[in-house]
Amino acid sequence: MELKTVDLAVEEHGEGTPLVLIHGFPLNRHIWHPIVPLLKNKARLIIPDLRGFGESPQEVDDYSMRLLAADISGLLDRLKIEKAILAGHSMGGYVALEFAHAYPHRLKGLALVASQADEDSPERRQARLITAREVRSRGIRYIADGMPPKLTTNVEIQKQLNQMISTCSVPVVVAALKAMADRSDANIWLPEIQVPVLAIAGLNDQLIPVEKSHSMIKLVNKGWVFEIPEAGHVPMMENPQKTAEALYQLICAANGC
Ligand code: MLT
Repeated sequence: MELKTVDLAVEEHGEGTPLVLIHGFPLNRHIWHPIVPLLKNKARLIIPDLRGFGESPQEVDDYSMRLLAADISGLLDRLKIEKAILAGHSMGGYVALEFAHAYPHRLKGLALVASQADEDSPERRQARLITAREVRSRGIRYIADGMPPKLTTNVEIQKQLNQMISTCSVPVVVAALKAMADRSDANIWLPEIQVPVLAIAGLNDQLIPVEKSHSMIKLVNKGWVFEIPEAGHVPMMENPQKTAEALYQLICAANGC
């Protein structure tokens, strides 16, 4: 099936090795802002909004992790970049894993931030469909209020997340929930990845436990886990210093320094 990509909204900072930072669900590129000053002298930071989120086009027909990965490949084409390091946060990690599978020749390194390679269990899939139904009947407030306390215990960051989630549209949230429920088990292709793989895990992550990072890294050729104490599901906001340090390790490993 032909994938109809869209032009993603994007911001860029710095120069050097391209590092694409992909946000999770149901957030937008602003989650990465705390690490921009820490990394912009070390890499060319390319920070898109995924389709449907932030300022990107709202087209959600055939929404899937594979389609979102094709949008990222289209973005690299548009910026005339052949290869990049991808860092995906949570759902952004699912997208980055699809990218690694579909476009291995374009990948220089892979960071999975608070993410996992497992597909949804039947219970998790069911829970997502229930959430989609609740969002349809109660509106975005349902997740804008309900999700942030699960992502972090930091009240200030919870407020920022609430604002980001509040800007989402119901059809996009429903499409993304369904696409996550339908995603493939990426464990199958982890051993095929030939570039360095870094898993960053907040030790207090309530959504995706740190064990998921360790099990992914066991399956790759070259990889390591970077654990961040006192961080939950959004380590780039909760502990930007440590998250930037981890990503800098990956930049070095990808460049062979
Ligand atoms: C995310 O943070 O992107 C999502 O919560 C991930 C998920 O629900 O699997």
